[in-house]
Amino acid sequence: MKEKFYITTPIYYPSSKLTIGNCYTTIIADTIARFKKKQGKDVFYMTGTDEHGQKIFEAAKKSGKDVKQHLDDIVLDTQNLWKMLNVNYDKFIRTTDNDHVLAVKKIFNKLYEKGYIYKSTYKGLYCLPCESFWTQSQLIDGKCPDCGREVHEQEEEAYFFKLSEFSNKLLKLYKDNPEFLLPSSRVNEMVNNFIKPGLEDLCVSRTSVKWGISVDFDQKHTIYVWIDALSNYITGLGYLSENDSMFKKYWPADLHLIGKDIVRFHAIIWPAILMALDLPLPKQIFGHGWLLLGGDKLSKSKKLNTVECTDPRILVPRYSADAVRYYLLREIPFGSDGNYSTEAFLNRYNSDLCNNFGNLVSRTFSMLKKYFNLIIPEAKQYGENEIALQNKALKEKENVIKYMEVYDVSKAITSIFNIFSEANTYIQLAQPWAVAKDENRQDELKAILRTLLECIRLGSEFLEPFMPEKAQKVLNALGIKNSEFEGLDNFTNLKSGQKVEDISILFPRLDVEKEINELAELC
Ligand code: MSP
Repeated sequence: MKEKFYITTPIYYPSSKLTIGNCYTTIIADTIARFKKKQGKDVFYMTGTDEHGQKIFEAAKKSGKDVKQHLDDIVLDTQNLWKMLNVNYDKFIRTTDNDHVLAVKKIFNKLYEKGYIYKSTYKGLYCLPCESFWTQSQLIDGKCPDCGREVHEQEEEAYFFKLSEFSNKLLKLYKDNPEFLLPSSRVNEMVNNFIKPGLEDLCVSRTSVKWGISVDFDQKHTIYVWIDALSNYITGLGYLSENDSMFKKYWPADLHLIGKDIVRFHAIIWPAILMALDLPLPKQIFGHGWLLLGGDKLSKSKKLNTVECTDPRILVPRYSADAVRYYLLREIPFGSDGNYSTEAFLNRYNSDLCNNFGNLVSRTFSMLKKYFNLIIPEAKQYGENEIALQNKALKEKENVIKYMEVYDVSKAITSIFNIFSEANTYIQLAQPWAVAKDENRQDELKAILRTLLECIRLGSEFLEPFMPEKAQKVLNALGIKNSEFEGLDNFTNLKSGQKVEDISILFPRLDVEKEINELAELC
């Protein structure tokens, strides 16, 4: 039986259209899911939308549409975006789905019955027009951080979750499982900023919020949006539903991939809820960095510099899904923040995709066409240079596997591209055009082309989870149709005597200045 692998992204707020920052998480998760599938795992990949709460409600109202209609429109745009970017999820969960709503009610009931939820009074600083409670530290100049108006003290009946009981259990969890929360710097953040100062019980219901899931046994209360949202990871598998076979099969999650801003919810509140429910904990949580624009977080509410084009809906049709995927996977060191810049995107496109990978493929295929009529040659013997290149490629192969074990997609894709750049350097060294002129060196020419084709094949096998479209195009042309990794250790995978399909240019070269000007008009 295949080993299972359950991976999730956060569920996104559909307050407005998703940004390239949200694409970042989803593309990484998609790449990891595809990679694990190719490694022979039984993968389940879930993503979705987090549709409750006052903010979502207000954003929907602002749009002038009916709330559900507004949400449906954004969800459709989100799903189209994932299709456009070749994101291959297994389930898309919406927190407005009926089965999720029912399961969240049951989870709340269960926590209440087990004594982890109790009724009390919430005291806070309330902003009347915004209908929001704030803590002292959230205020800006003593005023509401959203609208800048006066706040006043107010009390409200509310349910609380006994989060304070979990401090020691959480500390033990982090200590016993150093891999639970990565990068490890995030553990220190949790311990020093939240657990050591003392965890307080968490208010998990609001009577002032109407757009949400009501408490089953006390209908005027709406369940706190984060309880509703975090539960998606188990309700999406059918937890507490009539058919929980998926839950039994896939839970616990192998990886919750999230951004650093929501680590606290995932590394403190979520494990505490699961412990209270007596459920196994996710194996790993990875809090990645942010994609920044000129040093600022790319957010939906901030006005973007118009010269920077970050809209994937414009970038993908113009430059391909693979180019956008490549940039996001490659440019930001995994775990840290990284800058988005249109210029860097276009430069990487030219230097890495066009000049390195694309050029290697087109040079090799045109030589194969010229010298062997597109027929894959048999290599009788390899020379020193071919063996050196093969060894380098095998070393990079080891690196790709090693980096993907720790989800370092950026280093993994760099290693794949190292195979291509080594092969390009080798072409200069081997000078096949000179060898071709000498009738006595035809075996040598065969060994050169065979080596190049096998390097392209090996690199493309690995590239497929990262850049599925172009990698599949190359693999198809070479007659390779593996759903799982095969032949990673040798250079004898291609069938000698088989004709390859000619391949058109993978990434046409861009005039960076012209593109920047045109994008400035479009974005
Ligand atoms: N709805 C909650 C998550 C609930 S999960 C149970 C939420 N939604 S969000 O839409 O605001 O953000 C979703 C994810 O997108 C977060 O992981 C966040 O870090 C990520 N990103 C949003 N902007 C981003 C960047 N500019 N860069 C990288 N990731 C970013 O929080």
